[in-house]
Parts: sequence; structure tokens; C-alpha cells
Amino acid sequence: MNRVPEETINSIREQTDIVQVVSQYLQLRKSGQNHFASCPFHDDKTPSFSVSEKKQIYYCFSCGRGGNVFGFLQEMEGLSFIEAVGKTAELADIELDQSIIDQAKQSRPAEDSSRGKLLKIYEKAEHFYHHVLMNTQAGEEAYHYLLERGMTKESIETFKIGFSPPQRESLKMYLENEELSDPELLKQSGLFSDRDDLAFYDRFTNRIVFPIKDGKGQTVAFSGRAFMPTDESHQPGHHTAKYMNSPETELFNKRRILFNYDKARAGIRREGEVLLFEGFMDVISAWQAGVKNGIASMGTSLTEEHVQTLDKVTDHLIIAYDGDKAGMEATKRAADFLAQETHFTVEVASFPENLDPDDYIQAKGNDAFKEFLSHGRDTLMSFLMKYHRVGINVKNESERLKYIEVILKEMSRVSSAVERELYLNQLEEEFDVSVDALKEQMTVYIQEQQKERHKQRRKEKEANPTREPVRISFHQNQPKQTAVMKAEQMLLNRLFTHDEVWIKLENMDKELSLTTEANQLLFLLYDEYYHSHDHPSIQSFIDYLPDDKLKSKLTEIMLINLSEDIATGEIEDYIRLINDRHPLEDRLKQKRDELKLAERSGDKEKQTSLAIEIINLSRQLNSK
Ligand code: UTP
Ligand code: MN
Repeated sequence: MNRVPEETINSIREQTDIVQVVSQYLQLRKSGQNHFASCPFHDDKTPSFSVSEKKQIYYCFSCGRGGNVFGFLQEMEGLSFIEAVGKTAELADIELDQSIIDQAKQSRPAEDSSRGKLLKIYEKAEHFYHHVLMNTQAGEEAYHYLLERGMTKESIETFKIGFSPPQRESLKMYLENEELSDPELLKQSGLFSDRDDLAFYDRFTNRIVFPIKDGKGQTVAFSGRAFMPTDESHQPGHHTAKYMNSPETELFNKRRILFNYDKARAGIRREGEVLLFEGFMDVISAWQAGVKNGIASMGTSLTEEHVQTLDKVTDHLIIAYDGDKAGMEATKRAADFLAQETHFTVEVASFPENLDPDDYIQAKGNDAFKEFLSHGRDTLMSFLMKYHRVGINVKNESERLKYIEVILKEMSRVSSAVERELYLNQLEEEFDVSVDALKEQMTVYIQEQQKERHKQRRKEKEANPTREPVRISFHQNQPKQTAVMKAEQMLLNRLFTHDEVWIKLENMDKELSLTTEANQLLFLLYDEYYHSHDHPSIQSFIDYLPDDKLKSKLTEIMLINLSEDIATGEIEDYIRLINDRHPLEDRLKQKRDELKLAERSGDKEKQTSLAIEIINLSRQLNSK
């Protein structure tokens, strides 16, 4: 058991609002009493995940996971219970005793696993590189280069930027000193040269090193920017790549990782939108300018996995790539990719004069940058108009017609009729063609596209018949509830919230026996908990439960909406229902089992007679 006092845990929980914590991870929408989102714990297309502010719990109606704020963070971040308590305190700005903070840290997941050891290596390497940059002569020039570029000491520290010194074996020596010398593991870490004759030579030598962190803020890789002290311009030569990433490992997958996602998540939630940059330098400069919702992929185009990650926190994306030709092409690619996900709002910030966001900030200042981001963006369609306009001479009739055709095609993918109307009017004004004619042509494209989509879907189905995602409807994957199960749950709900119900139960001559195992366990455990705690509360009972399934079950029960007061005879009714129906339920279950056997043995006659019996039994049960 943990050694953090229960009062402390209770007090942290009581000072926290689960809605606020969850909203740092998910986009919640209020509907009635509760808040909803699509569930982060399974592939959920509908908003089945709910959070109750009043009851301070979350529950997914589709996958059945549920719990309190600690459980949410455990599941979301893969933390132990005590770590989740620490994280909750951090998110809610609650001051903690140092000893508790230490405990929360000590229980980090399996330090001796290979993942754990790799994380340790990256943590130490990050420390080493950062130290070299900040405090040694070897890092001095690189440090000044960063300052000259406009980076502040504070951001260098926030992002733990470092420098890999020219002495190519110093990283290995440093790690050895920290008792990290297992050669297999060092190799796996990807921090050293791939060449056998250069084994344990630092891969990033003479590079400025940026730690790459996963969503939990753990360093899982590095990217090194070429930096040559002798070269005036500090630009890499022809043979070296400007940026180099450490190779993919079990912890680092470029398709998944988004630079700065760990720090930006709260900003993304706050602003309701995410900024997609091309480079780390852009993210860092923007951060420095006070724009805290920026992220970047690792030099790759946007992937399905990135979009899935972002989808959990926002539905508004702003592509803020470099203002040059390559940046525009990359924007077009990302836009086409995102167009498949129709629920996103996509906008584009196209920077002028070939500038990248970082250049823009250096040239025009923080305020101009923020101003540009808020007022200088284009809708996706106006970006596409600009994009296709490049290099076209609209005075030439055939080029002009071609342009209009392309734009109409793009427009046919816009789902909002109002938006389409707007652009049609723009086209009409600019080229003096009638809106009706444009509309007619666009309708043809819309139909073509629908056909194309059908064809595509058919093809996908043929290639992979099971790939079509199964839409899980409300409770579909959970057993159907019988009247008795409902009565049990309502009784438990009353028991958990009204002390006087205990007295009733304790005065009963017959021991209460519940049909569902989980319900029975909850009942017994609550009995035990209730009689061993001075100030029992349902929230601390959640923490007391030994198992996630039970926590989820309890949450489900807590979510039942019952009137505040218990009606006369209500409890007695539940108990009568449970006791009376017990034999019927048991018989029904027995018959169902027999039916399964009969099906397996192929005994048709038996199957029919059992089916009839089952129908009759169910009727009896439901009519009561
Ligand atoms: P840029 O070349 O636009 O970098 O590459 P930048 O952010 O402007 O960097 P500075 O200002 O020159 O220092 C954008 C991103 O593309 C990837 C990196 O992820 C970089 O952040 N990239 C670039 C590479 O992976 N390799 C390269 O050689 C260059
Ligand atoms: Mn740049």
C-alpha cells in the first residue's frame, strides 16, 4: 500500500475539478448536466465519454471504463496511482510536501525494463548536452549562436537544448560514470554511431541538440542541428544534413511523435486550436513570443497517427508552414490529407516573402507575429485559390478557364453550402462569369467525386473486408441488463450515498445476495470499507477499490440518476425484486448454458424446446 496519508489524497481530490483536468486532454462539450467527448481509451467515433461535474467522475457508455480524476490520469498517462495523485496536484496547482513528490517520482514505471533504462539514458544524455551548452567552453560558440538567433536563455532552458562536444567519446564516458554502460542498451539508444569501427562515438558531435519528448514529457529521442564553429554562416556544408534525428526505437516513432505536444497540449485546449509548424525553431520562437499552442512533426509530413493524436484535443488546425515554395507545397499536401477528415476546421497562415515563422518573428517582432496569426490567416479555400493562382496568367483565356475548373473542383469538396456560395461569388466577381454557370459545373464535379468515393470504398472493402470500423452503439458491447441487475445497481447506489440504508440492511434477517459478481463484490468491499473508515465517502471508496473493472462498475452505478430522497418502500422493493427473482434468473442462465451445448452438439430438437423455455422464462421475468 502507498504511504501517502489518505487525508492528503482526499484533500487533493477535493480541491480538484475533474472537468478542468479532463479538459486539458479532451475537447468536452456540455450537454445537460454532463460533459461529453469521444472516448480516448478506445476507437470511438461518437461522443460516448462523459464527465459529471456534480459527481466528479468520468464514464464511457461504450467501453464501460470509468473512475475519478486519479483513474483518468492513470489511464491517460499510464501512471501508477501515486503518480496520478502527484500529477493531479500539479495540474490543480496544489502545493505538496516534498516527501510526497519524491514518492510520486520513485514509483515511476519499471526502471529495470529496457524501456525504463532507455528513458534513463535519454534523461542523462539530455542533462549532459545541456550542461555542455550552458556551462562549458566547448558549448560557448553554439550558445552564442542561439542567442544571436534571438533565442532567450529561458527558452534554451525550457526546451533543454544542448550541444554535443567535439570529443566524440565523452557522452559514453559520462553515461558510464552514471552506471549506464550496458553496450547492448547503448547501441539500442541510437545515440551512437552506426559504424562498427566508430562504436560509441557520439552521433551528434558538433551539433546543437534538441530533446524530443513524448506526450508525457519524457525524452525519447534527439534531433541535432548542424553547427560549425568555423563556418561564418553556420550553415552546413553540402554533405551534411542540416537536421539529423536519432533513429527510431521502441520509444520513438516519427509517425506518432509531435515536437512540443507535451507542453502545447494545455495551450491547444485553452486556445481551441493547434498551430502546425514545419520546424522546431518555429515552435520555439513562437513559444517565446507567447504562442503556446504550436507543434511540429519530425521533418515528415502529417500522418494519420498525428491527426488521431490531435483529434483528441481539438478540431481546429492552423497550418503555419514556411512561406517558400516548398512550404506551400507541403501545405497543399497537408490540406489534401486533412480534407479527408471533414470534421476539422483547417486554416492556413501563409507567411509572406519566403519567410518561415521564425524568420518572421526575428524580422518583425513578437506582436506583429501574433497579429499575423490572428488576422492574417486564410481559409483553406482561399489558400487553395492562391496556390493554384501561382504562375497562371489569368489574361490568357485558356489558362483562366483551366484555373476556374481547378478551383471548382477544389470547391466541390467543401461541405458547407454557405462557404461554397461565398467563393462562387468571389469567382463571379473576379472573372465575370455567372454564378449559375459555375454552380452547374460544380454540381458535375460533386457527383463525380461521390462516385469516386464509392468506388474507393468498394475497393477498400474488397481488399480488406474487415477493415470497415464497427460503430459501437450505446451499450452494445455490454451485456443486456435485466430488471434484477437494475434493481441491484439502484440499491447499491442508495447504499453508497445514504447511510440510513445500511441500518435497513443490517436489520434484515436474510443475508443479501446479488446475482452479478461485480455487484456482490462491490457490496462486500463497501461493507468492509464503510466499517473501517471514520469519514467514508464514495470518492475515497473508488480509490480503495483494488481493480479497474470494479472502479468502472462503481462509476456506472454512481451515474444512475435517482431522486435525491428515497421514496417510502423503495429499498424494500429492490430487495424483494432481488430475492424473489433470484431463482428465475438462475434457471434462465442454466437454460441458456444448456442451449449453447445443444447448439454445439447439433441437437435441433433440444434447441427448439430450450428456446421456447427460455422465451417463457424471460417473459415471466420481464412481466414482474
Ligand atoms: P527547416 O530547414 O525549415 O528548418 O526544416 P528551420 O526550422 O528553418 O531551421 P533553421 O532555422 O535553419 O535552424 C524544418 C524541419 O524539417 C526537418 C527538421 O525537423 C526541421 O525542424 N529537417 C530539416 C530535417 O529533418 N532534416 C534536414 O536536413 C532539414
Ligand atoms: Mn528557420
